Amino acid sequence: MAGLIPQSFIDDLLNRTDIVDVVASRIQLKKAGKNYTACCPFHKEKTPSFSVSPDKQFYYCFGCGAGGNALGFVMDHDQLDFPQAVEDLAKRAGMEVPREEGGRNSSNKPRQPTDSPLYPLLTAAAEYYRQALKSHPQRKAAVDYLKGRGLSGEIARDFGLGFAPPGWDNLHKHLASDSLQQKAMIDAGLLVENADNPEKIKRYDRFRDRVIFPIRDSRGRVIAFGGRVLGDDKPKYLNSPETPVFHKGQELYGLFEARKSNRDLDEIMVVEGYMDVIALAQQGLRNAVATLGTATSEEHLKRLFRIVPSVLFCFDGDAAGRNAAWRALEATLPSLQDGRRARFLFLPEGEDPDTLVRSEGTDAFRARINQQAQPLADYFFQQLSEEADPRSLEGKAHLMTLAAPLIDKIPGNNLRTLMRQRLTEITGLSGEALSQMAPATKSSAHSSTGPAPGDYHPDHGEIPDSAYYDVAPSHNEYENPAPTAGFERSKGKSNWKKEGGKWSKKGRDDFTPRAPRTAVSVESPHLSALRTLLHHPELAQNVEDVSHFAAEDDTYAQLLVALLGALQKNPKLRALQLIARWHGTEQGRLLRALAEKEWLISADNLEQQFFDTITSLVARQRERSLEHLINKARQSELSAEEKNQLRNLLSRNASPVIPSPTGA
Ligand code: UTP
Ligand code: MN
Repeated sequence: MAGLIPQSFIDDLLNRTDIVDVVASRIQLKKAGKNYTACCPFHKEKTPSFSVSPDKQFYYCFGCGAGGNALGFVMDHDQLDFPQAVEDLAKRAGMEVPREEGGRNSSNKPRQPTDSPLYPLLTAAAEYYRQALKSHPQRKAAVDYLKGRGLSGEIARDFGLGFAPPGWDNLHKHLASDSLQQKAMIDAGLLVENADNPEKIKRYDRFRDRVIFPIRDSRGRVIAFGGRVLGDDKPKYLNSPETPVFHKGQELYGLFEARKSNRDLDEIMVVEGYMDVIALAQQGLRNAVATLGTATSEEHLKRLFRIVPSVLFCFDGDAAGRNAAWRALEATLPSLQDGRRARFLFLPEGEDPDTLVRSEGTDAFRARINQQAQPLADYFFQQLSEEADPRSLEGKAHLMTLAAPLIDKIPGNNLRTLMRQRLTEITGLSGEALSQMAPATKSSAHSSTGPAPGDYHPDHGEIPDSAYYDVAPSHNEYENPAPTAGFERSKGKSNWKKEGGKWSKKGRDDFTPRAPRTAVSVESPHLSALRTLLHHPELAQNVEDVSHFAAEDDTYAQLLVALLGALQKNPKLRALQLIARWHGTEQGRLLRALAEKEWLISADNLEQQFFDTITSLVARQRERSLEHLINKARQSELSAEEKNQLRNLLSRNASPVIPSPTGA
C-alpha cells in the first residue's frame, strides 16, 4: 500500500514546478502582459477569460471562478485525485514521490487523503447488480419493467442500470468475505444493520427486488445507489444513506453521464427524478440531471455553472413544484455572473419530463422549452408580484422589501443593475430610495461572491489578488463557525474595538436592515487570524516560537498554531501550498474557504488585529496552564518538570510578538 506523501515533498514539488508549463502542455496559452490567457478548459466560452499568472503561480477563470495552483489544475483538468496529481507533477519534475509509512509519526497532523476503500466495494456492488439484470433467474420482472418504461438496452448500459434480486442476502453473500468486509458494506450503505436485539444483530441487503440506478460522481466512480420498486409498493425509491463518499446535497444524478455523452454542453436541464433523466436521455436529450430527492442547493448550482453557462429548471406546475422552483431560484442568484443564465419551465399538472417527453416526443418537448421556459428575471418578478401586489402602495413597498436583498445577491453587475432598474419601474421607487433601503445588502453582493468578472479584464495584465479569492464558501462548509466571538461581517472601514480582552463591534449609529444571511456572518478572532496569515504568510516571522501553546483545544487555534509552525520552518510557503498540506481534510476545506473570502476588515488594521489575536491566544493558554498547575499543586507535589513549567509560565513575557521591523 502506498503511504502518505510527506508535506515537505509537496512544498518542494510546487517550488520546482512552473504552472505556465503545466497549463501550456494541456491547453494553448497566449501571452497577455505579465500573464497568459486562454479559453477556459472548465467551462464553455468563446472569448478567453482564463488567466495564468507566472508571478503568483496561480490560474484563475474570470468566467467560471475556477482557480488554483498547478496541483489543482492537474487535478481538475486531468480529473485526477490528489496523490495522482502529485505523481504526475513529480514525473515531469523528475522527482520520485517518497511515501511515509502509515503516517504514524505525524499523529497530530491531519492525514493526507487516501482513496476510500468504499469505492471498490461500491463498484463491485454495481457490477453485481448489472450482471443480475443480465443473467439472474428472476431478472424478467425487472427487464419487463424497464422495457415498459420505454428504455432500450443501450440506455440501460449507459446508465449502468441493474437489478437487486429479491432476497435478504444476495449481495451480502456475494461480497462479504469476512466481518471486516461486512463492516465496510454497512459503511457504504449496501447492508443495513438491525441492532434492535443486541443478542442477535441482523445484517441484510438494503436493496431488494428493485431496479438499481448507480449514482456516479463527476469522475464516474459509483458512490451510491437508488433503487425503484417494480410495482406500487412503498417506498417507491430507496436511496443510499449519507456515507463518507456520498453527500446527497452535493451530487447530481446523471451529471457524469451527461458530460460523457457531450463534453461541450451548452445547457444542463435540472429535473426531479432518476427516471426523468433517463427517459430524456432515451429521447435524445442527454443533458438532464436530477437532485437526489433534495432541494437544489447553491453547491449544485456552483457545480453546474462551472460546466455550462445556462441552466434550465424543469418543475411540476403544482404547488410543490413552484415551491421547489423558488428555492432553486434563490440558490441560483449567487452564481449569476454576467454571461450566465437560468430558465424555468413549468410542466402541466400531473406530468413530469418522463411522461411528457414520451407522450409528445423530443421535438415537441424542445419546442415547449423554447416557447415556455421563463428567464429567471421574468419568473422572479412574476412570482414576487403574486406575493406583493404592485398595484397598491403597500404592495409596492412590500415588493421592494422582498426583492431588493435577493437582487443584491447577484454578482453579475449588468444583470444586477438591470434587475434593480426593473424593480424601480415596477415600484416607482428611485434607485436612490433603493440604495437607502438596503445599504447593507448592497455591499454584500460583492463581499459574498467577490468581484464580478466584469470588474477586471484578463487582457489588462495584472490579476488583482482578490480575484483569486472570488468564490464564497458554501454554507455547509463552515457556517457560523465560531462559538466564541461576537463578530459580524463588515466591509470597508474597521468597525471593531477591543473591550476587556474581547473584540466587539462598535455600536451601530445608523439604522440599517441586516444583510441577508451570507456564507459567513460570524467570525472568530482565530478565523480572522488564520485568514490574515493565509494572505500574509510573512507575518509568521514576527511571531515568537509557538510550539509552547499547541495544547489549545480549539480547532481553529490548533490550526493557527500548525500554520504558524509550518511558516516558521519554511517562510517561503504561500497560501495554496499551505492549503495543499491539508488538502482533502476538514482543515483543508476551512483554509480554502478562508482564502477564498474577501477581506472583511480594512488592511491597515489587519496586522494589529492579527497580533492582538495571537497575544490573547497565548494569554489564554498561559492562564489555562497556570490554573491547571496550581490546581494540581494543591492536591499533590508537582514534578520537577511541572515546577519548571510553572516557573516559566510565571516569568514569561506576556507578548509573544516580535515588534515588526517596519514599525507597521
Ligand atoms: P417522484 O415521486 O416524482 O418520482 O420522485 P418519479 O421520478 O416520477 O418516479 P417514477 O416516474 O414514478 O419512477 C422524484 C424523485 O424523488 C426521489 C427520487 O430521487 C425520485 O427520482 N424519491 C421519490 C425518493 O427518494 N423516494 C421516494 O419514495 C420517492
Ligand atoms: Mn415519473
